[in-house]
Amino acid sequence: MRGIFITIEGPDGSGKSTQIKKLSHYLNEKGYNVLFTREPGGTNIGEYIRKIILDKRNTKMSYETEALLYAASRAQHVSEKIKPALEKGTIVICDRFVHSSLVYQGIARGIGIEEVNNINQFAIQGIKPDVTLFFDISPEIALKRKRRNNKGDRLEREDILFHKKVYNGYLKLKEMYPNEIISIDATNSINTIFNEIKGVIDSILTRS
Ligand code: ADP
Ligand code: TYD
Repeated sequence: MRGIFITIEGPDGSGKSTQIKKLSHYLNEKGYNVLFTREPGGTNIGEYIRKIILDKRNTKMSYETEALLYAASRAQHVSEKIKPALEKGTIVICDRFVHSSLVYQGIARGIGIEEVNNINQFAIQGIKPDVTLFFDISPEIALKRKRRNNKGDRLEREDILFHKKVYNGYLKLKEMYPNEIISIDATNSINTIFNEIKGVIDSILTRS
């Protein structure tokens, strides 16, 4: 049996890591075989690439290089971890995947959704999420939450206009793929959001 591939998307600081931690605890307690992973990164090679992409000193990085590095990290992630796990029947939950590249590089950087999608199709070898949860929250609120705790990496330091483009990009993707993307109201309290996610995940797991 093939496993289930769930991806989590949303602006920086939308609460993805917080909820993934809770979900991990919940699903492990229920006895499911689950792989929690993230992008960019998820493999040793991917984590090296992540460091290059997010390094504040890399101010000269071209948008095309950035898009290819994210896709390179993803290619390694798919072939080394995601594909083998799904083939073994594991539930794979991934913090960001292709939708992040479509939105951040394709829309916010202005490279184009189609162009970014093309390089990613090469990277993912036909592996697509069964469902994507989009954490819907304005960048103003999300970044305020995040900056309370750190100064921000290279991407988080982009100005608010960039993050607004990211947010609007997600809304556009949701319009383009209404059946694949489920919106979660990420402005709620941690527990309210978690209950909503549990409902969605439980119904996916009982369906399969
Ligand atoms: P992401 O992984 O999407 O960047 P995090 O889970 O790291 O987001 O959350 C960003 C910050 O917001 C953290 O400081 C976290 O404690 C806080 N946070 C997460 N969820 C909520 C919430 N529902 N309400 C208020 N603060 C939150
Ligand atoms: P991450 O550490 O997951 O950020 P956060 O926890 O704030 O959500 O991701 C690092 C940054 O990389 C984040 O700003 C989003 C960006 N990103 C892209 O621009 N393109 C991509 O394909 C991916 C996966 C991430």
